[in-house]
Amino acid sequence: MAGSYFLTTAIDYVNSAPHLGHAYEKVLADFFARHEASLERDVLFLTGVDEHGQKVQQSAQKQGIEPQAFTDQMSALFVEQHRSLGEESTTFVRTTAAGHKAVVREWLQKLHDKGEIIFQEHEGFYSVRQEQFVTEKDKVDGQWPELFGEVVPMKEPNYYFRLEPYRARLLAHIEKNPDWIVPAFRRNELLGALKEPLAELCISRPKARLAWGIPLPFAEDYVTYVWFDALTNYYSFADAKGARRWPPDLQIIGKDILIPAHGVYWPIMLLALGLELPRHLLVHGWWLNRGAKISKSNSTTIVDPSAYVEKFGADALRYFVLREMVMGQDADFTDERFETRYTGDLGKKLGNLVQRTLKMIHAYRAGVVPNYDGFHLEDVDAPLRSDAVVDEYKKHVAAFAPHLALQAVWDFIAQANEYIEKTQPFKLAKDPVQARRLDVTLALLAESLRRISILLEAALPFTAGKIRAQMQLAPGPRRLEEALFGTSLRGHQVGEPSVLFPPIETKPAAGA
Ligand code: MSP
Repeated sequence: MAGSYFLTTAIDYVNSAPHLGHAYEKVLADFFARHEASLERDVLFLTGVDEHGQKVQQSAQKQGIEPQAFTDQMSALFVEQHRSLGEESTTFVRTTAAGHKAVVREWLQKLHDKGEIIFQEHEGFYSVRQEQFVTEKDKVDGQWPELFGEVVPMKEPNYYFRLEPYRARLLAHIEKNPDWIVPAFRRNELLGALKEPLAELCISRPKARLAWGIPLPFAEDYVTYVWFDALTNYYSFADAKGARRWPPDLQIIGKDILIPAHGVYWPIMLLALGLELPRHLLVHGWWLNRGAKISKSNSTTIVDPSAYVEKFGADALRYFVLREMVMGQDADFTDERFETRYTGDLGKKLGNLVQRTLKMIHAYRAGVVPNYDGFHLEDVDAPLRSDAVVDEYKKHVAAFAPHLALQAVWDFIAQANEYIEKTQPFKLAKDPVQARRLDVTLALLAESLRRISILLEAALPFTAGKIRAQMQLAPGPRRLEEALFGTSLRGHQVGEPSVLFPPIETKPAAGA
């Protein structure tokens, strides 16, 4: 094993069904997890759900069931989404797990003992409908918006976590580690947010108001509130076959939870506990629907990934989200864009290359990859014998840019398609004098397919497997190093091709 790799995703709220935004983040993490595994690293990959809090308690109440029963039902939907997308996490986090609760309590106790958690009265305005404190900043045109219902003055003592004593150390860490937050412009946003002194973070709710949470070890009539519970999952589940891994190499989150949750609360919790900070925080943008964030709070924006998986296959969705979204930016999800990528990149470019190549090997060489002698090479063969694609791919993944890594693979696919146009194997096949040249072209094309199957493994694992099956090659997962050019296919018998991405017209409608 070439070392280990530990990565995490945000854990999703279970108060509504998973949507495309959740699916994207998990696919992104799965891509990196598979990539690291292809470098022979022992991967620990955590993802899962955030199960406590007011909303879950309320949703359960509405359905007339216990919060645990409610969250059991909802968590199953997330597990199913991950499964259908081919996402292979090591551990599915659930914050209702006993082991997690124990770590949260342990951390709270430590910070309390250290004097970092203090008890103080908060006086302010309270929204009865939303059951939360609101501030002047929440007002719209000087009025409390409708969504808050009745807003009343309220005094409530709570427990607070002191952030300010750690601000200078956090700033120093960010200055010293320029690639701690990717992309860089998010780092600048965080530096901006850390210019002003930090107010204490309220980490409790009286049990009388919120029962669905983890009780504070030093005040059992309070539960800890949301972020303290949720963030701790990264540590409480950081277990690889009985041994704790720390720190995470990569933590993937959306831009909405960088400031303050993952950029301020989380590193300060770790600093206060004397634990190392994660090596990288990768902050992705949002999927939009006609310009609006896809969000559970606006049902008209929701895109249900399962409809696309059913109609086009998991890899089509995986490819689309990884290829279309420029890392860190927002992207619009439209059926037109999706279908353009599906028909063009997947069907015409990749699918056709596989079909044409395997068909020609059957038609001209009885399905056997020819052995060529190295004396009949020409300049036109150079791109397919080059390892540049592997270097490019690796470089972009290392820079957390899967869209560019896939672009590099598709450039190579384009070169292979152009190669067929330039060398015209169907003409060579008619001229016996050209038999050796035909051997070279068919062998190089077959070798390109083999290499593509390896380069696709992290992003499109099902397709990579299908290509390998059609070529009668050993199934994945394979090592990325095998994507380097070689001659291992000499004399290898390939199987029959079958269509990888059927044209849309012949497919049933989504959900049919
Ligand atoms: N439970 C918290 C996270 C706790 S992590 C210790 C939470 N949950 S969430 O369900 O609201 O969001 C989970 C993740 O999905 C976040 O990283 C969020 O950015 C991401 N997405 C939710 N909607 C999204 C889009 N429309 N597009 C892309 N990702 C977005 O926050």
